[in-house]
Amino acid sequence: DVPGLVDRFGRVARDLRVSLTEKCSLRCTYCMPAEGLPSIPRNQVLTAEEVGRLVGIAGTMLGVEEVRFTGGEPLVRADLVEIVRLSAQAAPGVRLSLTTNGIGLDKKAAALVEAGLDRVNVSLDTLDREHFKTLTRRDRLPAVLAGVAGARAAGLDPVKINAVLMRDTLADAPDLLAWAIENHVRLRFIEQMPLDADAAWRRDSMVDAVELLEVLGRRFTLTPAGREDPSAPAEEWLVDGGPATVGIIASVTRSFCGDCDRTRITAEGSVRSCLFGDDETDLRSLLRDGSHDEAIADRWRIAMWGKKAGHGIDDASFIRPLRSMGAIGG
Ligand code: GTP
Ligand code: 5AD
Ligand code: SF4
Repeated sequence: DVPGLVDRFGRVARDLRVSLTEKCSLRCTYCMPAEGLPSIPRNQVLTAEEVGRLVGIAGTMLGVEEVRFTGGEPLVRADLVEIVRLSAQAAPGVRLSLTTNGIGLDKKAAALVEAGLDRVNVSLDTLDREHFKTLTRRDRLPAVLAGVAGARAAGLDPVKINAVLMRDTLADAPDLLAWAIENHVRLRFIEQMPLDADAAWRRDSMVDAVELLEVLGRRFTLTPAGREDPSAPAEEWLVDGGPATVGIIASVTRSFCGDCDRTRITAEGSVRSCLFGDDETDLRSLLRDGSHDEAIADRWRIAMWGKKAGHGIDDASFIRPLRSMGAIGG
């Protein structure tokens, strides 16, 4: 009965993703340029209080049920625990989660849980230290593994691991799956989308779900187990009969745009209705000019009404977004 974030295709956004910064401690080739993203002037980035207010509006007025903090890397913000705390207070009952590269998570996990964080997804593409270093342009694999262990130790469950499928790390996929099963974390492989800063992505040479299944199939027996719920991006597969599973997010070859339930806020405080397309609607000026919550909610509803049907990667008319994944908020 909450007049929610509905678009003209009848989809309802109940999942909010908030980017907290464009900064990151890694430089994954599929997400950022080697030199990092141009830094946003500090006064243009939402404060912890502003994030908390938007989360409150989303959760109490717009029907949002789950909020995920992303980046860049959310842990580079010194006030992340405060952001989680303010968000939890502003939107009681809304699930709060974090997508992170894991660096520094071991030190912050307990405080984040105490502040109200429910879940964490850690990005990790390979356990081969050299491959990790090439892909992320940083030699930080041990720090990421410590972060995963720290999240588990803080009681976060499930911990999901996101691995983007790249040609150079494809052969490492079976080891990553064996490790995930052993360490009680839920692995999901993700098809790379054309959101790299270097525009190196090619539809005809990207690694797709079919190729991954072939590689994993040499070591494991996989049987399809469907999706956890219709809007979940991952299709699940039982590994060697279960109970262990592996997920595949085939965003490109099996787009889930028709069931999309996402709305996003960029680090600068604009609504972005879809990862793709470049339309953004500023909310920051309303946050700062004394506007009431209702005015902010209204502008957010209007922004979502115009959401695209889908990413259209395979359309002849497809144009890559101007901003890379790290700048939009992964
Ligand atoms: P869960 O609630 O744990 O399922 O999280 P999630 O999968 O929604 O979020 P996460 O941040 O872990 O993102 C996983 C992957 O989904 C990312 O690596 C992206 O490739 C992909 N993804 C994230 N947001 C979008 C989106 O808005 N559209 C599409 N097509 N893919 C997305
Ligand atoms: N395609 C697909 N997933 C991506 N991610 C970053 N860039 C891309 C891309 N080009 C993933 C990260 C992280 C999540 C938020 O998005 O690995 O897990
Ligand atoms: Fe939703 Fe756009 Fe992502 Fe498709 S590409 S799943 S429509 S946000």
